[in-house]
Amino acid sequence: MKPRKLREDVYWVGAVDWDRRLFDELIPLPDGTSYNAYLVKGSKKTALIDTVDSSMTNELFDNLGQLGVDDIDYVVANHGEQDHSGTLPRILKVYPNAKVMSTPKGKDLLKHLLLIPNDRIVAVEDQATLSLGDKTLQFIHAPWVHWPDTMLTYIREQEILFTCDLFGSHLATSDLLVTDEPTVFEAAKRYYAEIMMPFRTIIERNLEKIKDLSIELIAPSHGPVHNRPEFIIEAYKEWVYGPPKNTVVLPYISMHDSTKKMVDYFVATLVDRGITVKQFNLSRTDIGKLAMALVDAATIVVGSPTVLAGPHPNVVYAVYLANALRPKTKFASIIGSYGWGGRTVEQIKGMLSNLKVDLLEPVFIKGFPKKEDFTALDRLADEISNRHKTNNLL
Ligand code: FEO
Repeated sequence: MKPRKLREDVYWVGAVDWDRRLFDELIPLPDGTSYNAYLVKGSKKTALIDTVDSSMTNELFDNLGQLGVDDIDYVVANHGEQDHSGTLPRILKVYPNAKVMSTPKGKDLLKHLLLIPNDRIVAVEDQATLSLGDKTLQFIHAPWVHWPDTMLTYIREQEILFTCDLFGSHLATSDLLVTDEPTVFEAAKRYYAEIMMPFRTIIERNLEKIKDLSIELIAPSHGPVHNRPEFIIEAYKEWVYGPPKNTVVLPYISMHDSTKKMVDYFVATLVDRGITVKQFNLSRTDIGKLAMALVDAATIVVGSPTVLAGPHPNVVYAVYLANALRPKTKFASIIGSYGWGGRTVEQIKGMLSNLKVDLLEPVFIKGFPKKEDFTALDRLADEISNRHKTNNLL
């Protein structure tokens, strides 16, 4: 990919990673990703906003070379995570006059994670400005989207907001700008679910902080640039503030079909009551899809057999993740089966401590489901339906 002109004297100089399929050795990337870096040429000074993952160092330098960039005065490090700062040490070697601009917390992280010398980093205060001549950069602290160090950078004269991870999407595309909103919506929702959702209440404050900014472009550091900022801002508002939907997310696993039989019956029962169900077989599910489903589901019901006196390990993994992602889910329950005993229900309950949910009476049975067990599942479906109706989650 060559450098791409975004606005007058503002260029995308990042790298598209078409082949990456896993991030943090945890998060599936079905559509690859990009590491967006931006060059801003003022009439007096030049700034680079973020760098790229160290695996893409050559792409960044190729782009800077094609633009004939002999000197960089400032490197704005909106965020210290290595997918954006990985090439920073090399940039500072090649451009010895460059100073890094970051938040005070960012400065500390860059020193420890990238071993950047203290005297190369300038810690900027919230709302501080930096003149590049005919362009002014404004730094807006936005902690916890998704690390404590994060900030946004705004070019006042051109109304471009560089948001690093916030409003981003793991999406490899040759399009500089958003051209296909449904595709970007899907990727951005996945990104929000996996990266941002645990910080929902803090994002509320950060959205508040930028609500009066006039924004023409939102330029994140993953995925395409938003040329219709209201599209992504409204999507975030819905994910962050919107009430959960009349949906049950049902991650489950079954070894000998007892739990599967319960799941099949229970799903049909919920559907009969007008509830949308998103069912995930944890032996083969994309964990990102499960995270996305949790963004706006009112209820999570976990289905597990009993293995070695506790939940199946795949269920433990999924419940741990759901608990860490802190969705706005309001109700939870557990269904499943055991052979001769165990503490599956207690252990799953104990792992949901971060969620502000009402725990509804589990249906946890011995062996294969029988008539009375199906009746108990009917009761649980009725309870979920009533709770959704009482809370106007329709
Ligand atoms: Fe894209 Fe938090 O790094």
